[in-house]
Amino acid sequence: MNILLRAHSGLRYVVLALLIAAIFAAYSNWQKGKDGDSKLYLFAMIATHTQLLIGLILYFMSPKVNFSELKVPVFRFYSIEHVLMMVIAIVLITIGRSRSKKLYGADKHRTVLYFYAMALIIILVAIPWPFRNLGAAWF
Ligand code: HEM
Repeated sequence: MNILLRAHSGLRYVVLALLIAAIFAAYSNWQKGKDGDSKLYLFAMIATHTQLLIGLILYFMSPKVNFSELKVPVFRFYSIEHVLMMVIAIVLITIGRSRSKKLYGADKHRTVLYFYAMALIIILVAIPWPFRNLGAAWF
């Protein structure tokens, strides 16, 4: 549980870095009207799917997932808010990438840009940053 939690916590930065890099790549490829895919689109998706997998295991082990104490902000956050927002973000990334696969040129990269940017905003909101007092640290 501890190892998984450390991995899940540290991987947030990998997810954020890859998503931001993919968004920049999508913008630049869109402007240039390039045809090919960027590997960054795939890597960003893999990173978020890895978080989904680890998160699902944590969900069944964590003492912070507690449906009988939903009035307590920490329990409500991990039991509902965190998982719901993260799953929505990961679905957006998956839809964005699979739609982009069927498109060409500027359309392909614009699709990735919009879907990944929406997901990034949701992920930033759903991360238990230390200043939100949800009992989580920076790493
Ligand atoms: C991009 C996706 C995700 C990111 C960036 C992310 C990030 C984080 C971070 C930073 C923490 C705090 C770790 C700490 O206390 O040091 C956390 C905790 C947690 N996450 Fe995620 N998460 C993601 C997706 C998910 C998903 C999809 C689930 C569930 C299916 C999930 C379940 C949990 C649980 C249960 C905890 C609390 C564990 C505990 O402290 O006992 N996460 N997550």
